[in-house]
Amino acid sequence: MTQEIIAKYPSNIALVKYWGKHGNQLPCNASLSMTLTHAFTEVKLQCTPKNNAAIELAYFFEGKPKDSFKERIIKYASQQKEFATLLQQYAITIHSTNSFPHSTGIASSASAFAAIAAALLKATNTFTDTNFKNQASSLARLGSGSACRSFFGPFALWGNLENVENATNEFAIPINTVHENFSSMKDAILIVEDTPKKVSSSVGHALMNNHPYANARFLDANNNCKTMLSVLKNGDFETFIAITEREALTLHAMMMTSQDYYMLMKPETVFIIEQIFNFREETKLPVCFTLDAGPNIHLLYPASIEKNVNELIEQRLKNKLKSVLYDQAGLGGVVN
Ligand code: DP6
Repeated sequence: MTQEIIAKYPSNIALVKYWGKHGNQLPCNASLSMTLTHAFTEVKLQCTPKNNAAIELAYFFEGKPKDSFKERIIKYASQQKEFATLLQQYAITIHSTNSFPHSTGIASSASAFAAIAAALLKATNTFTDTNFKNQASSLARLGSGSACRSFFGPFALWGNLENVENATNEFAIPINTVHENFSSMKDAILIVEDTPKKVSSSVGHALMNNHPYANARFLDANNNCKTMLSVLKNGDFETFIAITEREALTLHAMMMTSQDYYMLMKPETVFIIEQIFNFREETKLPVCFTLDAGPNIHLLYPASIEKNVNELIEQRLKNKLKSVLYDQAGLGGVVN
């Protein structure tokens, strides 16, 4: 009999960035993210018992076969002992859809691997309810690092951090105490370019291996995670903004100063950042930006100032934008 599992997991946006990895998908520094709500991947996993040992896996993205990602999943699943048995015993079909358009700078590998890992783990039946999230987060990490943070919300921490109980490189952990200032954060994703990025994150991570600023960067990120943990408890917007924006610019500074240097920001990106600085200066409202590994801007703000931020977008930014995706902090995904 065919077993069917549906997993729906959101993407996340890092406030403190994961950039640089070693060993088996272990991060060089701790990172901290906000889990999204509307940008998600939904995976339908079908497992049908089979008698031969040959791997039978079909992968469909938005209804069409996608062989490049199919090969990535086969490689990934064969390497995890939990999933390798599943591949031997069942013919597997995966149908995946995203709620958001392609190449918009939303980390699709984060939501995709969170959903795939959760669905496959559920199919194995080798977990207890109390450890499901940790185990799924750990397995998702092996597919794509940032995916491990999509299991917890509204904020999640991933990576060893001195004096922070339970923090580990293996999987993400939830940040439980969040000040009301940050409990209903919004993220307006300002799309200035919607073509695929020139340099993959994997290549970017690898460039941190012999980066002249690597050690200083890893230390700075860990310190930023520690400060951000306090900020999320005490509601200090000013420090939240300072860390979030400096992290975004540091990520891009790392790209621009690696041996094979490159630049992902566009003139529109810089224009919008300047507009955000001006708007904040004039209004004193707590709105700030972050960037992923791409030119698009994530505008972060509490729900209480939504109206003002919509005005900012409509009046000062709209003519530089291809589109806007409105999202907000969320609690993670579900699998059934
Ligand atoms: C800039 O998680 O995409 O978004 O582990 O190689 O799949 P892999 O990398 P990935 O890197 C994300 C980098 C980032 C920052 C972040 O999300 O922390």
